[in-house]
Amino acid sequence: MTVGEILIQGGEMLADRPTPRLDAELVLAAMMGLTREQLFCSSDKQVGEAYRSRFFDFMAQVRTGKPVSYITRSKEFFGRNFYVDERVLIPRPETEMLVEQAIEHSKTLGLSSPRILDLGCGSGCIGLTLALELPNAYITLSDISADALEVTTMNAERLGLLEKVKILESNLLSNLLDQEFDFVVTNLPYIGTKIHHVVSEEVDAYEPSLALYGGDDGLVLYKKMFQQILTCKTLPRRLIGEFGFGQSDDVFSLLNTFFEHKASSIQILPDLAGIDRVFVVSFL
Ligand SMILES: C[S@@+](CC[C@H](N)C(=O)[O-])C[C@H]1O[C@@H](n2cnc3c(N)ncnc32)[C@H](O)[C@@H]1O
Repeated sequence: MTVGEILIQGGEMLADRPTPRLDAELVLAAMMGLTREQLFCSSDKQVGEAYRSRFFDFMAQVRTGKPVSYITRSKEFFGRNFYVDERVLIPRPETEMLVEQAIEHSKTLGLSSPRILDLGCGSGCIGLTLALELPNAYITLSDISADALEVTTMNAERLGLLEKVKILESNLLSNLLDQEFDFVVTNLPYIGTKIHHVVSEEVDAYEPSLALYGGDDGLVLYKKMFQQILTCKTLPRRLIGEFGFGQSDDVFSLLNTFFEHKASSIQILPDLAGIDRVFVVSFL
C-alpha cells in the first residue's frame, strides 16, 4: 500500500470526524518522521506492514475521540511545536491571545526585561513562547501538577530554554507570594462542574481533569488567585487571563469586586470568533 492509498483509507475510517483527511495526514506524518509537505511528496512511497497496522490502530483511536495531538505527541502553538501527552492540556489557538497581550503590554510599558509569571503552565506553551518572543524577559512557569511540570521541563529543554526560565511547583501563588512580577499571565482551569459546563465528551474523557475544571462555576481557582494577588508583596503591572464561553459577565464583576480600588483599567477582549475570552487588569 502506498502513502496516498493509506491516507485515503485512513480518511474514510474517520469520515464521521470533523477533519478526517487532516487527522490521517498528521498521524502518518508524525509516525514517519515527516512534515505534511514531505508526506505530500511521498504519496507513491510504499508503507511497510508494521507502519500500516500501527497507523490503522491510531485511526481507530482517533475515531473513538482520542485527540490527534496525544497520538502525534505534538501541537503547534504560536508557530512552534510543543510536546504534549495526557499529563497536560493540549494548547488551544485562542490561548495565543494571552501571549499577544503580554507582548503588546510589555511594549506599551516600555519594559525591556519584564518579569513574567505563567501560572498553571501545563505544557509551558505561554511562558516558553514569551521567553522566545521577549528574549530579555525573566520567565517563571508554575503549576500544581508535578506531572505537568515534567512536560514543561521537556519543552523548555527542546526549545533551548532550560537555563533561561524558572520552573516550579506551586498551588496557585502560594510559593510565589514573596516574588515580584510585572505580568501574571494565566490560563487556569475554568470549566464549571455545575454551571458553565461547556466541554465536549472527548475533552472530558481524554484531557486531564486538573487542567479543565474550576469548581461549581468554573471560577473557583480564579477567585482564590485574585485574593492571593492582593496579598502579594507587590502587585503586578498587568494580570492577563483566559476564561470560557458565557463567563464574561461573571469574570468582569469578580474583577471589579477584587480590584476596584487597585486597578486603573479592567478590559475584556473577544477572541477571533467574537467570543469574550481574555481579561486584562492594569494595576495602578
Ligand atoms: C487550562 S490548563 C492550561 C495549561 C497551559 N497554560 C495552556 O494554556 O495550555 C490549566 C493548568 O493549571 C494547572 N492547575 C490546576 N490547578 C492549579 C492550582 N491550584 N495551582 C496551579 N496550577 C493549577 C493544571 O495542572 C493545568 O496545567
